[in-house]
Amino acid sequence: MRTVPAAPNDRVTVFPDPAAVAAAGAARVVDALNAAISAPGGSGRASIVLSGGSTPKALYELLATRHANDVEWILVDVYFGDERAVPPSHADSNAKMVEAAMLSRLPFGSVHRIEGERGAADAAVAYASTLPARFDVCLLGMGADGHTASLFPPLTGWPGLVAATKAPPPFAVSDRISLTPAAFDRCGLALAMITGKDKAPMLARVFAERASGKPTLPMSIVRPAGIEFLLDSAANG
Ligand code: 6PG
Repeated sequence: MRTVPAAPNDRVTVFPDPAAVAAAGAARVVDALNAAISAPGGSGRASIVLSGGSTPKALYELLATRHANDVEWILVDVYFGDERAVPPSHADSNAKMVEAAMLSRLPFGSVHRIEGERGAADAAVAYASTLPARFDVCLLGMGADGHTASLFPPLTGWPGLVAATKAPPPFAVSDRISLTPAAFDRCGLALAMITGKDKAPMLARVFAERASGKPTLPMSIVRPAGIEFLLDSAANG
């Protein structure tokens, strides 16, 4: 693994392949959750915001297997970074994917699902009322168009903490619900796992924008306080 130059607050580590990214990401999540749980003067609990898409599935599987005994999961509260406006039974539901990969296998303290079945606008209002003042860990991914969570280009400004958004074709399910940049500013650790050569051109543009302070993409504006990027060699161009 090697680190590469990035924006001042960001940290970029490159791994040989997606499996190594998932393994490093899982270990980083375990460490961050345990640090939050044991933090002096803290609540004795930890919170994590999960990402959808395909990249984090391997990490979720590792947390549920390799790391099943490494965290007192009952002390961890789960949130979602975004969701499609569909019920949890729908094939495109992020909750469905995470439930199968991890939530059904580990005894988490609480799971705050985005109720996509209510429709994007109602689900966004309902979900916003469940959010804590701070998240200990936030997982992020990035699409080849520079979107993250369900914040898609162009930058339109997303007020509040949770927004009803639209995904353009060909993304699955147009109506979405997403944490906004203001909500992601509540993350203690923001961990982005990005793999695959199809992401390389956009990632280079995002790194340049994050370094220049001239963002035009959602992945460029989220968490200016810093993101830890875990990449595979293919995504690093
Ligand atoms: C979603 C995700 C989304 C994802 C990117 C990357 O709901 O789809 O939250 O932001 O992280 O689209 O997806 P892949 O990991 O599948 O490339």
